[in-house]
Amino acid sequence: MATIAVLGAGKIGEALLSGLLHGGRSPGDLLFTERHPERAAELESAYGITGVTVAEAARRADLLVVAVKPQDIDPVLAELAQALRPSSLVVSLCAGLPTAMFERTLPEGTPVVRVMPNTPMLVGEAMSAVSPGSHADAEHVRQVTDLLSCVGKVVEVPESQQDAVTALSGSGPAYFFYLVEAMIDAGILLGLPRAVAEQLIVQSAVGAATMLAEGAGHPVLLREAVTSPAGTTINAIRELEKHGVRAALLAAIEAARDRSVELGRAHEDSEQA
Ligand SMILES: NC(=O)c1ccc[n+]([C@@H]2O[C@H](COP(=O)([O-])OP(=O)(O)OC[C@H]3O[C@@H](n4cnc5c(N)ncnc54)[C@H](OP(=O)(O)O)[C@@H]3O)[C@@H](O)[C@H]2O)c1
Repeated sequence: MATIAVLGAGKIGEALLSGLLHGGRSPGDLLFTERHPERAAELESAYGITGVTVAEAARRADLLVVAVKPQDIDPVLAELAQALRPSSLVVSLCAGLPTAMFERTLPEGTPVVRVMPNTPMLVGEAMSAVSPGSHADAEHVRQVTDLLSCVGKVVEVPESQQDAVTALSGSGPAYFFYLVEAMIDAGILLGLPRAVAEQLIVQSAVGAATMLAEGAGHPVLLREAVTSPAGTTINAIRELEKHGVRAALLAAIEAARDRSVELGRAHEDSEQA
């Protein structure tokens, strides 16, 4: 089985390693890199996997997942470029960094696949969007899809859509957390104890998400099914419409997409400087 190295085992990197182990990969097939020896020791004892340097990971792994923060990428890429084997596949989880940036630094012809995951990877429920770079083919995309399937769902999109993906599913969990927080506040306003309000809303969110995920119907039909004539739900919907909640969501997600484009450009400018 292929050896996989995770470069930067922070929140997302650790979630991926843990998901790979749960998905049946053997600890002997996994490597990771970390800057701090205490963190490396913690991961080695928790998962039985080996911490190595970036150079050693480049020499030993068939597939390398880069999971450092985008601002930490330069030294990692420089080290990778020195030791990478010609057939290795590089997978970037770094938000906003184009595959072309990796291709410019890594040896000519290195296949690179860009991924936008999200934080539900921590509970095995990520939504990841993958885009092949110019030297990656369908087989490389299949390998990455296989890899990420043990921590959630995977979809392939053209790289030009990654800013939209970032705004929608990359930031998406935050919008749901925000909504849940506001609904719990509403429960408090209505006089419910916080713990009760929290339980009511979190379980309603889980139930609604499960219905959507299991294909119980289109969201419009599911909402209509709980919106009876002159009932309570339609009164709430009228207020949501009056306050422009739908328009606010459209504008918010568009603003997130614009910021993602801006951050990508800022990185390109700093590379050229
Ligand atoms: N969290 C999210 O919601 C999310 C969503 C989508 C994509 N992503 C992407 O996933 C990547 C990881 O994010 P994260 O939230 O997991 O960040 P994180 O918790 O900060 O993890 C990054 C890890 O990489 C380590 N590291 C940095 N430079 C290194 C080097 N030269 N050699 C070895 N290890 C190094 C860091 O160590 P130190 O602790 O010493 O810095 C840290 O443990 C980012 O590129 C981010 O854009 C994150």
